[in-house]
Amino acid sequence: MIKQLTINLAPTYPIYIGDELLTHDVIKNLFTNLNKKLVIITDSNLVATIGKTLQKQLEQYGLTAELLAFPAGEAHKTRETKQSLEDQLLQRKYGRDTCLIALGGGVVTDLVGFLAATYCRGVPAIYVPTTLLAMVDASIGGKTGVDTPYGKNLIGCFYQPKAVLMNVNYLLSLSANEYRNGMVEIIKHAMIADADLFHRIKHQYVHIMERAPNCLIELIDESCLIKKSMVEKDEKDLGMRQLLNFGHTIGHAIEAVSHYQLSHGEAVAIGMLVECYLSMQYGLLDEAVLQEIRTLLEQYHLPLQTNAFADKELFLEKMALDKKSINNKAYFVLLEKIGKPYVNAGQFTTRIDAQLLDQALDWANSQFNRT
Ligand code: GLY
Repeated sequence: MIKQLTINLAPTYPIYIGDELLTHDVIKNLFTNLNKKLVIITDSNLVATIGKTLQKQLEQYGLTAELLAFPAGEAHKTRETKQSLEDQLLQRKYGRDTCLIALGGGVVTDLVGFLAATYCRGVPAIYVPTTLLAMVDASIGGKTGVDTPYGKNLIGCFYQPKAVLMNVNYLLSLSANEYRNGMVEIIKHAMIADADLFHRIKHQYVHIMERAPNCLIELIDESCLIKKSMVEKDEKDLGMRQLLNFGHTIGHAIEAVSHYQLSHGEAVAIGMLVECYLSMQYGLLDEAVLQEIRTLLEQYHLPLQTNAFADKELFLEKMALDKKSINNKAYFVLLEKIGKPYVNAGQFTTRIDAQLLDQALDWANSQFNRT
């Protein structure tokens, strides 16, 4: 099975979701019609395995692709890595007639996307995400960038890829933790836009956990449609796209306070619950709904445990560093019910006063503290 959706931005680009993706003619044609020199850029964990396999698959189409790799991990999503890759490409005399293929998780697609945006003033990039998180989030919508010692993703730009190829076979070997990271983003999409999807995620638990390919293709397709609808209306993240930040204002601060000991999915899952609690305090959301969401996250084995709320001052300090805060004030995406975010006078985020936030952090400490 293969599904295709189109992201209608300038320029438009296709997303293909399937298994055995490279055997489909539409993918073969995509590469052969490109008429570019191809360079696959991946990380050190993937280069010898799926990196080599992709290179061989392209050879079967009669295409030569060079394979480059940089050290795996968020610590290497830096300006230095970008520069080192640029130098390697320049030394090998790649010019504007080059297409970069980003093969990997969100670190790879973000960094290679940024590299493609500036290399020779811009060359095309094709994303081949290998994690569920990168499929449903990082590879859609054109946010690219690198981290700095001052914070994550602070240097980058919006740059849309030429195409995104999502091969669900890559997901079969993903660790349970990495798989959960992606599931949390899919649950988030359901919570901000699609109550039916939320209920299907609840009822199809067994198939989703078995990673049945057709079930994954459907699930990723539905999740991508939600993100597509938001980025098409608000490419530059000035309005509706901010809804995708649900759970992330608290989640990013949890990650920062806990020195990234929690996975992104674990932090965002707790973040979503705290932001649901804020929605409840704000008089928007029923307590029963908060409990329903918590039950679903527990069903998907999210541990929901952190000591990050123990030191409120430190937590608030980290939250103020979030690049989405305005004048050091925290703004949150709130929910009215599952699938329905609170939008007030065209604003997609709501400023929460310090007292309400303080109470929510006390509640979070009482609910999620490990001891
Ligand atoms: N990850 C949220 C966004 O792409 O806007």
